[in-house]
Amino acid sequence: MERQTLVYLGGVSGRRPKVPVDPAVLEETALGAMTDEAASYISAGAGTRATMDANRSGFAGWRIVPRMLRDTSGRTMETTLFGRTLPAPLLTAPIGVLELAHTDSDVAVAQAARATRVPMIISNQASTPMEEIAATLGDSPRWFQLYWSSSDDLVESLVGRAEGCGAEAIVVTLDTTQLGWRPRDLDAAYLPFLRGKGIAQYTSDPVFNRLVEESAEDAGDAPKPRPTLSAIRTLIQLTRSGASRAQVQKFTQVYSRPSLAWENLAFLRERTKLPILLKGILHPDDAERAIAEGMDGVLVSNHGGRQVDGSIGTAEALPAVAERVAGRVPVLLDSGVRGGADVFKAVALGADAVLVGRPYVYGLALAGAAGAQEVLENFLAEFDLTMALTGVTSVGEIGPGALVRVP
Ligand SMILES: Cc1cc2nc3c(=O)[nH]c(=O)nc-3n(C[C@H](O)[C@H](O)[C@H](O)COP(=O)(O)O)c2cc1C
Repeated sequence: MERQTLVYLGGVSGRRPKVPVDPAVLEETALGAMTDEAASYISAGAGTRATMDANRSGFAGWRIVPRMLRDTSGRTMETTLFGRTLPAPLLTAPIGVLELAHTDSDVAVAQAARATRVPMIISNQASTPMEEIAATLGDSPRWFQLYWSSSDDLVESLVGRAEGCGAEAIVVTLDTTQLGWRPRDLDAAYLPFLRGKGIAQYTSDPVFNRLVEESAEDAGDAPKPRPTLSAIRTLIQLTRSGASRAQVQKFTQVYSRPSLAWENLAFLRERTKLPILLKGILHPDDAERAIAEGMDGVLVSNHGGRQVDGSIGTAEALPAVAERVAGRVPVLLDSGVRGGADVFKAVALGADAVLVGRPYVYGLALAGAAGAQEVLENFLAEFDLTMALTGVTSVGEIGPGALVRVP
């Protein structure tokens, strides 16, 4: 039965959805239920948050033109990506430090992904080692998102582990060679990684732990920080997280490589046969270069507006990227996608698939795995309904002709 019908029928017996369906209410309720630090970190945007606004106004700048009397009773959302048929052009965005939202973190999202068959992109900054997430996913599809660290050995190790976990693609995030300027987190002076959160892929990695040991041998009698009350509190948090101070310190040294350049991609290309997608592409020339470097897909993303303030919205950037790529490799999009109609617009503008970001984290925060699952089900249901009500029966029929630009 359709999700909408199930919800209304549930209401007859007094059952309401576990998490709000309205995207704005979902966000507000979830942020209100979290600690201040968690809410700031998850909702944070760069600078004045103008990029987050651009993501939304980018979608609002296009309007759908529904067509009538086209039998839509037999429709399908199925989409094929890299040879795998998916239930819909939808994946979960890689989102780190999910323990801020719920103690079940990535495992709960894996349960939701498995229940809906929506592929999960496992984050490099997850709160749970990828092997545990993969075990929860069973035979449901998963990709791995990589941050290119300053250690090539670590990059190789993470990619090898991802292959062992059955990842069907590697997504290399390019827009975070350094952390964006996020006033809310700066005002709270809060970065979860320094408390040992969101570094489980590192602390579970043999190469990373070898690097930690090598540093310990070199460190000798380095001065210890003064034991203030806050420092003690952080130490307690660290102990609870299972990470050691040495591991956190090493993480801060290796996690990013600001020198990363196009020439580095060959290293990865030689080490995996999996499709590689570049995440953070906003300029058509960069998409062109990605193809020239042997990449298998591009992901139009601005990291949910968390990196550069005042940058182009992804719905604005997508048409030019899709036009240049011209079907040679899949083009995906995320940032600011808040419902099934946004998914429809992105597909109409040239995206082969779309990533859901913060909304599933809000579902997770409110009701764990069941909450994340409901959010994904709502996206699927609204996308399906948008197809039905606009007169299309398959994803391939959704094209630029379905939209007009707001004058
Ligand atoms: C709290 C948070 C953590 C994130 N962590 C990662 C990450 O570990 N790796 C990554 O590639 N992107 C990360 N992202 C970006 C998402 O993959 C995605 O691009 C973004 O959430 C899309 O924007 P939206 O949430 O506004 O839809 C993160 C985003 C948020 C909000």
